[in-house]
Amino acid sequence: MDPSGNKPDRAVVIPGESVHRAPVPESGGPGIDAIEGKVPALRSGDRGISSSGVPRSCADPGGPLPGGGPEWEAPEEIRRRRFIHPSQARRRQNKYIGLIERRPEYIVLPQDVEKWRGRWQERFPVVQPLYVDLGSGRGHFLTKKAELERYHNFLGIEVQYKRLYLSAEKAGAGGLSNVQYVRYDVQWLDDVFVNDELSGVFINYPDPWPRARHEHRRMVSPALVRILERVVAPGGRVFLKSDWQPYREIILRVFQGSRFELTASVTDVGEWDRPEANVSTSYEDRFRRAGVPCFFYEFTLMR
Ligand SMILES: C[S@@+](CC[C@H](N)C(=O)[O-])C[C@H]1O[C@@H](n2cnc3c(N)ncnc32)[C@H](O)[C@@H]1O
Repeated sequence: MDPSGNKPDRAVVIPGESVHRAPVPESGGPGIDAIEGKVPALRSGDRGISSSGVPRSCADPGGPLPGGGPEWEAPEEIRRRRFIHPSQARRRQNKYIGLIERRPEYIVLPQDVEKWRGRWQERFPVVQPLYVDLGSGRGHFLTKKAELERYHNFLGIEVQYKRLYLSAEKAGAGGLSNVQYVRYDVQWLDDVFVNDELSGVFINYPDPWPRARHEHRRMVSPALVRILERVVAPGGRVFLKSDWQPYREIILRVFQGSRFELTASVTDVGEWDRPEANVSTSYEDRFRRAGVPCFFYEFTLMR
């Protein structure tokens, strides 16, 4: 859970659920997701991509600009009243939409996922075991992992623009060539990998969604485990960490009956020094400072 007590980010919009949508000008710009704030309103079924193949949040709805065309400029007196052209207004609301597009060396956008499926190793200079971080946040964990373990390749999957941008900035600052990020919704992980493509998967502090009516929003679900059974190579491992104690039971139930076997279980990861848990995440740092115990599970895929 967010240590500040805030509700988890609404990263996924569930079908049938009404979403508050801000009024959308008819033209230009990245779409209403930017108006709504940091999280793109990914609808189940669209993975963040419009039918044109452009990420929904970046799609240009087309049509004439209300101001009179792309070259239109507001008159001086309007500009002085802080008028912002609608197409720019949306960009300004979330500048990270544009910024992540300028980091193609580190960030793969949703429309390109299909192209890289089964070929992720080509994005790295060396072919070496590939580990994935689901919900990689600001890249704090993956940057440290990539620095420490040069003999592994890492891929972070995240939906939030700003978090992806900050992750890419960290990778760039560290000159890291063994880490990459993808903007994609984890519920569609099936699209991203072919069979046995992964050596391991990290799921660190997933949003807990504690209420029963929000259960279907949890990242760790029977559907995810079925995908992991396919995309993780035999002998590969899934590492999970959380501060939310009810998750202990829930995770065990979700993995029960699968080809994954529980191979490590630790009550307080802060007191454990095996390499699997040697790198903390930004959430974990905050929990540790607050004295909140965080558990760790390791599951191994049996042959
Ligand atoms: C509580 S944060 C944890 C971040 C990071 N793993 C850490 O431990 O610091 C959960 C992260 O998962 C991302 N997330 C949630 N649901 C997701 C989904 N369906 N697909 C991709 N990312 C998701 C959120 O945007 C957020 O960055």
